[in-house]
Amino acid sequence: MWRGKKVLLGVTGSIAAYKTTFLTRLLIKAGAEVKVVLSPAARDFVTPLTLATLSKNPVLWEYFDSEDDSGTWNNHVELALWADLIIIAPATSNTLGKMVSGTCDNLLLGVYMSAKCPIYFAPAMDLDMYRHPATRENIQKLQSFGHHFIPAGKGELASGLEGEGRMAEPEEIIAFVEEDMNIRSPLKGKKILINAGPTHEAIDPVRFIGNHSSGKMGVALAEQASALGAQVFLVLGPGSARPGDSTIEVHDVVSADEMNEACQEIFTNMDIAILSAAVADYKPAKKADQKIKKSGDNLEILLVENPDILRGLGERKSDGQVLVGFALETQNAVPNAIQKLHKKNCDLIVLNTPSEKGSGFGYDTNEVILIGRDEKTHTLELKSKSEIAKEILDHICNHLLA
Ligand code: CTP
Repeated sequence: MWRGKKVLLGVTGSIAAYKTTFLTRLLIKAGAEVKVVLSPAARDFVTPLTLATLSKNPVLWEYFDSEDDSGTWNNHVELALWADLIIIAPATSNTLGKMVSGTCDNLLLGVYMSAKCPIYFAPAMDLDMYRHPATRENIQKLQSFGHHFIPAGKGELASGLEGEGRMAEPEEIIAFVEEDMNIRSPLKGKKILINAGPTHEAIDPVRFIGNHSSGKMGVALAEQASALGAQVFLVLGPGSARPGDSTIEVHDVVSADEMNEACQEIFTNMDIAILSAAVADYKPAKKADQKIKKSGDNLEILLVENPDILRGLGERKSDGQVLVGFALETQNAVPNAIQKLHKKNCDLIVLNTPSEKGSGFGYDTNEVILIGRDEKTHTLELKSKSEIAKEILDHICNHLLA
């Protein structure tokens, strides 16, 4: 599960910081990509050189180097968006308090405040500090923010006292995150085919018939499916969007025929297929070998129908396979979408109505209506394509998977 995962490890100023060298090593060995951000105090306990060598990435602790006047700085937002998950270990009492209050006086806290990914925190402190009502309240508050608390262990503490407050061992931290991620991976073990983007149908070597699809919706679906644990195969037409997740297997195609061939081949072993591509319905009957020259007269191009990829998959889908189509309608939307759902033997259809403000081709947001075989509709209001993708996948997990 760690292969290709981007882990940002936040280390704060506790003696337990020395254990992060082992934690970093274990994460790297498991296949994760690791970037370490230190709080300024953490540098008193562990050297950036050690962690940089182990993580194979520069270790950061400040927004900019005051000695360097080149204007370069460490962008906390970019770091936060890079991460698939953040582990703050050890998390001192001071850092817990700042996370709760939104105090943002160092790079690590800036990263934390900008993060959208799951956050795990493993406290380390002396037993009375750990027991203190303020600490208990801070831990509860952070859990109420949706963050994941990795409890401290019992044992001899750096102060010489015995009790609770030792940071969980690196192996325990890894096991905790794995278990938690598995719970939140409802698509673990599932294989998903997603197609996305437009297709381009060649007229001659330099011209084509296409459409305005960017592929953003399909790419968002692929990324979210991967985040939920699925093995994702993305058949991608020539739009502008590409997934950032390197674990997604991308098959680049240009024409509807190429997309059809790739989808037909991959579909055989799939549990789920989601066909979000804006496939061109027609292609020129013949592609001219050379660039077509102006003749001073009208030009007629004979178009012939492309294969209907979704319909083809619907005809051969087996009982265990879930097939999801999209429908783009500008009039009589719901009845037309229902007709498509049955005609193409889908289990679910996602209806796009591009006339709605902020939805459809090219936008980062979308508003869709989900329609099942029972013809019940479920509207997903306007939100980011990533959020829409997550809700479509949640719907599939909750209603269509056995
Ligand atoms: N689709 C497909 N192959 C095609 C055309 C469409 O696989 N040649 C798929 C789309 O990816 C989508 C669904 O069929 O999942 C519906 O696409 P849409 O463009 O809304 O409908 P069409 O079937 O093309 O019908 P029409 O354009 O006449 O509305």
